[in-house]
Amino acid sequence: MAIKIGIVNQKGGVGKTTTAICLTDALTRIGYKTLLVDFAPQANCSSTFGVKGKEPTVYDAIMKRANIVDVVVKGNDMGDIVPSGEDLKMALCELVNVKAGENRLRTALAPIEDQYDMIVIDSDPTPGIMLDNVLAAVDGVIIPMKAENYSIEGISSLVKDINEAKAELNPDLRIYGALLTMLDEKGTSTHTKISESFDNLSQYNLYPFKTRIRLSKAIPSTQTWVSIDQPKNYSEHRILEAKGSIYKYDNNSGAVDYSNFVRELMEVITSE
Ligand SMILES: Nc1ncnc2c1ncn2[C@@H]1O[C@H](COP(=O)(O)OP(=O)(O)OP(=O)(O)O)[C@@H](O)[C@H]1O
Ligand SMILES: [Mg+2]
Repeated sequence: MAIKIGIVNQKGGVGKTTTAICLTDALTRIGYKTLLVDFAPQANCSSTFGVKGKEPTVYDAIMKRANIVDVVVKGNDMGDIVPSGEDLKMALCELVNVKAGENRLRTALAPIEDQYDMIVIDSDPTPGIMLDNVLAAVDGVIIPMKAENYSIEGISSLVKDINEAKAELNPDLRIYGALLTMLDEKGTSTHTKISESFDNLSQYNLYPFKTRIRLSKAIPSTQTWVSIDQPKNYSEHRILEAKGSIYKYDNNSGAVDYSNFVRELMEVITSE
């Protein structure tokens, strides 16, 4: 049965989607059969995998309008994906009116769990039933935190939500740890201070991953989308070619950091 990992933080723009994509990619590269579940209506994972707009989506699966087997898209060298779309926004209201609405994602994924070693779920920053669906469906969560002053604020509320979900929905739920992202490797004093305070996260019973994700030029490039049908010039065509996997770039810090992170994560997962 797959190990299921949720990428969560109620703060926006902290690197959840980037971590979900790069983690999936890194796991696939070292031989794990990996599925990425896009559980955010922005559908950024789906866009990077080139399947944004494809139907049915994860929304159809959780609303029991489609079988998950028909939602999975195979064939990307980064891994398989369950695409999302804007329709997922509707689930926020609809799920509160159905019985056991928090368990819909877990139930939807159950039929394909045995086909994968690892399942990674990207989430939306909105707290409430959408986050609860992720917390009910996974074995553990990773909390990406951006290297900036306010990043640690809000963590206690997130940890409280996770612990409530553990008590009410998923008794074996683990917090694998917090991952510092977008660290300026030039080491400005602010970043150095943040890095030091990050090490003190144990006050929230959070393991601070030793691997830090540095700011990388390659990462935003992989998320750039240019139409394949009408490349205007060679440079745009090259951006298109580069879109998707960070491993298409040689020696970039994003690829190095996420590979190191996967190694550390697997040690943490197997440590219990
Ligand atoms: N290591 C990195 N180096 C450079 N840019 C990065 C890095 N990680 C993330 N980014 C950029 O930061 C922005 C926010 O990242 P991302 O979309 O992964 O955050 P998020 O937490 O998923 O946001 P949201 O809450 O809106 O879903 C994106 O533009 C992304 O390209
Ligand atoms: Mg995101």
